[in-house]
Amino acid sequence: MAYLLGVIGNPISQSKSPLMHNKWLAEEGLDGYYQAFAIELEKLEEAIVGMRALGIDGWNVTIPFKEAIMPFLDELDPAAKAIGAVNTVVRNGDKLIGRNTDGLGFVHSLLEKRSADQLNQASVLIIGAGGAAKGIYYALAQYHPEKIVVTNRTQQRAEALVCSISVPSPGFTLTIHEAQERLHEFDIIINTTSVGMIPNIKDMPLDITNISKNALAADIIYNPLETSFLHDARLNGADTLNGVGMFVHQGALAFSYWTGKHPNTEQAIKTIIQDQGGTIC
Ligand code: ATR
Repeated sequence: MAYLLGVIGNPISQSKSPLMHNKWLAEEGLDGYYQAFAIELEKLEEAIVGMRALGIDGWNVTIPFKEAIMPFLDELDPAAKAIGAVNTVVRNGDKLIGRNTDGLGFVHSLLEKRSADQLNQASVLIIGAGGAAKGIYYALAQYHPEKIVVTNRTQQRAEALVCSISVPSPGFTLTIHEAQERLHEFDIIINTTSVGMIPNIKDMPLDITNISKNALAADIIYNPLETSFLHDARLNGADTLNGVGMFVHQGALAFSYWTGKHPNTEQAIKTIIQDQGGTIC
């Protein structure tokens, strides 16, 4: 049986997921195809009914459907339930299961830079309080970091995030100003906002002058490959991690849920970097 896979979103034409997943299907010797579907919000329910009837095996869900799709699914995994958003649907017989691989995908990317023990001892600062921040907060908290702090332009959203997501060792919030002043206390600083993404590439989510040289600055943005946030962190002597790894690892987790196979993430990261105009050393 061929795997029928895809991604729903709007807009979706810029998505790199078809490129990545179709390559993985071929590399794993699996028959199948991964297709991007642009859907209107008012047609979402109809689309899910159709995908169910057609027996589509699984699909990714991106902006603006990550929350809107939840009522049309049969079950949610613990991550999707805690975060309140779905980025992956897995068909199990007649049932559609909503899962979320964004946060764990980020952590798998982070584990290429820091060990699980280091995460366990780290002071982490998350900038932003949207869907991406929720997933990362939930997934990172499973590693019991020493300290996990959320800062956001809208402080109430940061507080709502920390209060609404149940994790083993809950975090706390700081204002952006407080976070800037205390930046040197953090080992890992993660930008989960869209600030710095093309076309506003000069924008920064906060001033990082106080970053420690031993810190790791991570961005979930991969367009550009090096945001101003990462650029300045690097000039201040810190280590950096761009968003390509998160994108590839969230996809790899979804691929493994659908097919039972663990695809080659290292090669996929290189392919996406080259596709974005970057160079591989
Ligand atoms: P996503 O689900 O992709 O995370 P989102 O829910 O819209 O998207 O959240 C976007 C995040 O980026 C929020 O933390 C948002 O801050 P607010 O809660 O104050 O809106 C942050 N963000 C977006 N544009 C921003 C900007 N220009 N300056 C600072 N923060 C910004």
